[in-house]
Amino acid sequence: MDENIGERKLEHIDIILKENIDFPDHCSKIYDSIMLIHQAFPKINLEEVDLRIDFLGYTINAPLMITGMTGGHRNVTKINEKLARLAQELGIAIGVGSQRPMIIYRDNSDVLETYKIVRKTAQDVPVIGNIGINTINDLSINDIEFLIKSIEADALAIHLNPAQEVIQPEGDTRFSDNVIVKVEEILDSIDVPVIIKEVGNGISMETASLFRSIGIRYFDISGSCGTNWILVEKYRSRTPEYKKRIADILNKWGIPTPLAIIETRNAAPDSFIIASGGVWDGLKAVKSLVLGADMVGLAKPIIYLLIKQGYDEAYKFLFTYIETIRTVLFLIGAKNPSETRDKPVVLLEPILSYLKQRKIDLENYIQFIRKGGL
Ligand SMILES: Cc1cc2nc3c(=O)[nH]c(=O)nc-3n(C[C@H](O)[C@H](O)[C@H](O)COP(=O)(O)O)c2cc1C
Repeated sequence: MDENIGERKLEHIDIILKENIDFPDHCSKIYDSIMLIHQAFPKINLEEVDLRIDFLGYTINAPLMITGMTGGHRNVTKINEKLARLAQELGIAIGVGSQRPMIIYRDNSDVLETYKIVRKTAQDVPVIGNIGINTINDLSINDIEFLIKSIEADALAIHLNPAQEVIQPEGDTRFSDNVIVKVEEILDSIDVPVIIKEVGNGISMETASLFRSIGIRYFDISGSCGTNWILVEKYRSRTPEYKKRIADILNKWGIPTPLAIIETRNAAPDSFIIASGGVWDGLKAVKSLVLGADMVGLAKPIIYLLIKQGYDEAYKFLFTYIETIRTVLFLIGAKNPSETRDKPVVLLEPILSYLKQRKIDLENYIQFIRKGGL
């Protein structure tokens, strides 16, 4: 196994703070083509808007989670503690970063603590574990149970990140379909749900229906509108020149977040869908819910603000984000997140042509999300 994984996690954070690693702005056109309808008389009072939802056995205060980012090097313990404090204080869900270092450094209590601190700090909200699909073949069911139990995780996210791994100099590109059997084995053996999660290039209908067919009911579609891991790997000094050039060519690669929501909901209708990947304000969040997501996720803006400007600024950002969701729900006349599905939405180009060519019938789709998810 790769012994430098903890250092790599630090390098990633350093790059995210210093370089422009966001997708070029190819998503604003798509978000602008999702029109929510303003209601001059919304038929509700603002105080009636209730953002709480049930998720993994908890009632959380807003349909929001801080998605998995870090852990594995003692320098990130404080960061994970603060992320967890944000989640606990605001009453929202939180994920940890890839737990692979917990396996490599199983006897190193400093490394284990970088993850355990999350559950210790966030006791009243869902905590989600994290591991890469390409590494689960190397792990036993006991290892997986160890990862879940050590942070009392309420779910395990298995991340799919082929675009990142293929640019990463030491990347692990084992993504052949024999690993599916291992995912099934994990599903059968553990007693918490498995979330299939991208890291910013989006989940397609084909991928969603494959995982739905083996029993997956939770997806974090993480589309290509926010943090771009192809670019993060490009900025690493060890990355060879030819890979850097490929990264530049692929700088818009992936399925934009709103389209990945539709793809996944269409292929896995009875699933719980988390929308992340550039869902960086509360209006984009509500658009995600209207399109069929059950919850939204945020990563980079939180860690960036936390490190650059401190806890209070990260808290203010999240507070404003949640209040923006409340404001927009009020203006479209929705009392709670699930009512957003019943509200009118107009979809313009380029979404219409995209759906047509992907053979998704818009009328059917809208009717069908109104019937609800999980
Ligand atoms: C610093 C950082 C580290 C991350 N590490 C992981 C990880 O270990 N496992 C994972 O599944 N996703 C990881 N992600 C991806 C995020 O969970 C998320 O899917 C992605 O960044 C898109 O969300 P965003 O545009 O809000 O950043 C990481 C993101 C950031 C910013």
